[in-house]
Amino acid sequence: MSKRVNKAVFPVAGLGTRFLPATKASPKEMLPVVDKPLIQYGVEEAVAAGIEVMVFITGRNKTSISNHFDTAYELEIELESRHKTKLLEIVQNITPPNVSCVFIRQSMPLGLGHAVLCAAPVVGDEPFAVVLADDLIHDGDRGCLKQMVDLYEQTQCSILATETVPPEATGSYGIVDTGEDGELVGVRGIVEKPKPEVAPSNRGVVGRYILTPGIFSMLTQTQRGAGGEIQLTDGIASLLEHESVMAYNFKGRRYDCGSKLGYLKATVDYALDHQELGADFKAWIQKRFD
Ligand code: UTP
Repeated sequence: MSKRVNKAVFPVAGLGTRFLPATKASPKEMLPVVDKPLIQYGVEEAVAAGIEVMVFITGRNKTSISNHFDTAYELEIELESRHKTKLLEIVQNITPPNVSCVFIRQSMPLGLGHAVLCAAPVVGDEPFAVVLADDLIHDGDRGCLKQMVDLYEQTQCSILATETVPPEATGSYGIVDTGEDGELVGVRGIVEKPKPEVAPSNRGVVGRYILTPGIFSMLTQTQRGAGGEIQLTDGIASLLEHESVMAYNFKGRRYDCGSKLGYLKATVDYALDHQELGADFKAWIQKRFD
């Protein structure tokens, strides 16, 4: 019997070195874009895809993430006594009642593949999503994860979100070899951060995956790869020897909020689209360039 995707894994145990010193004592996933932390955008995307169990793979300095998704009694009492009902509602709705959060500690940052493997005892024998919250995806009509969950229901195989990256940027991505072009195509091979001259294509994997539980036994056997880390890409390359994996060019705009430039772009675009701030912000920006 086919199982539905009901769990999302959020690896948040990375060191976030590109954002130091901001990430010295607090995680990059708590960086806000306008007024919401990156991790909350990711969880909202998972909720919109019908996912009910959020599994966070955490490391040192990540208690602010568990606090963010927990009840804040003192704050709620304070907001209530000051009759700040709108704010109270915002705070109370961060975690919808049907959603549960599980936190697993990755004791050493041994890589994304290792972080995903840490989720195995909670995920069990089910397909699951992986969300890298520093890839912020502006959804349009249907969130990226919802698009992928719908496709999983049709194909029953692992799906990687991909986009065309500049040829000179292949060294920053997992790159797939699909043989043919198309929105949803089979993957023949995958390689982590290849130099442009050896990259099989310029179709890069971004931070959304639907994976079958078969990935766990692959990751158990995966040796340290690029950067001395246990790479999810290498686990997927092994999975390909046993199962079909698809690459999907999702609909939506992605911001690489793990980099300063991507984060700034997201901040500007989300501020311009913001219901309350958008008009004033646009006027200010325009004046700035007059
Ligand atoms: P990145 O490659 O972006 O690394 O990890 P990073 O440490 O977060 O950031 P930089 O490059 O040092 O600035 C990709 C994702 O994998 C998670 C990170 O939290 C991020 O979401 N990750 C990485 C882990 O959970 N554990 C790890 O051991 C490594």
